[in-house]
Amino acid sequence: MPSLIEVLKRSEFFLKSKGIITAKLDAELLLSHLLGCKRLSLHLNFKNNIEDFVLSQFQRLLSRRGKHEPLQYIIGEVEFYGLSIAVDKNVLIPRHETEELVDIIISRFRNRLIGSILDLGTGSGAIGLALAKYFPKANILAIDISQNALSMARKNALRNRIDNIRFMKSDWLENVDGVFDVIISNPPYLTDGEFANSQDEIKNFEPKSALVSNNMGLADIFKIISGAGKFLAKDGILALETGCFQHEFIISCAKDYFCKFESIRDLCGKNRFIFLHNNATFSS
Ligand SMILES: C[S@@+](CC[C@H](N)C(=O)[O-])C[C@H]1O[C@@H](n2cnc3c(N)ncnc32)[C@H](O)[C@@H]1O
Repeated sequence: MPSLIEVLKRSEFFLKSKGIITAKLDAELLLSHLLGCKRLSLHLNFKNNIEDFVLSQFQRLLSRRGKHEPLQYIIGEVEFYGLSIAVDKNVLIPRHETEELVDIIISRFRNRLIGSILDLGTGSGAIGLALAKYFPKANILAIDISQNALSMARKNALRNRIDNIRFMKSDWLENVDGVFDVIISNPPYLTDGEFANSQDEIKNFEPKSALVSNNMGLADIFKIISGAGKFLAKDGILALETGCFQHEFIISCAKDYFCKFESIRDLCGKNRFIFLHNNATFSS
């Protein structure tokens, strides 16, 4: 039986040969996932031997990663804003930028009463669940057009014991009823070309319908902007994650529907979020 350190060294070499940049980290994360232990304890037990049956299971996981399947799909979960979110090929893997969007909303509304939030295109449920957890008195409605995504989002609500959220199938605002303090969405916004040029992890594994939108990536954003106003409370905001070169066009369209616009950069300095206000006076 090989030792843990031997297995990790060989695995790192294998993943590197397949073009995985984070080969060492990924090998360690896969092995600690399989053994049900923290990464640190691998380092503390380098000399331990690995049983043959564990080794063959590990080789299967490594081979999936070697084909560039995202680590999160192989492990089946990702951490998002302190929640454990289960993911599979039916849902987009929640991104760090989206955590930033959640964080901005939380800091804006921390000292305000927030009654209702609508999460459009909830996918795994990440945004809606993080906000539901942070605002336990608010009612969250999360919609998606994909029944498979909604099943995963419901599982994630149970997994995190969050019950102030309900899920509904809807083509954007079609089946939505009510008025919301915040409407939030990370809609599909890539062009076909951007998707085709994306990493293998994205283009070969993540759902294209969650990422790509017609009309230069803007069709879904436009549908949301043109329909959301009547579902927003008087001081409500529509908060969108977008592509970083789309803000000029989005704001020019939004002028027909909203009074005030904010273009917000992500931590990498890219124009990533747009906040559209129903009311001309707002505090940021
Ligand atoms: C970029 S993913 C965002 C998923 C999740 N909110 C997140 O941030 O990780 C976009 C989501 O919008 C959903 N979607 C695409 N078209 C839709 C439509 N017409 N109506 C409702 N949801 C849609 C997709 O199924 C997908 O779950």
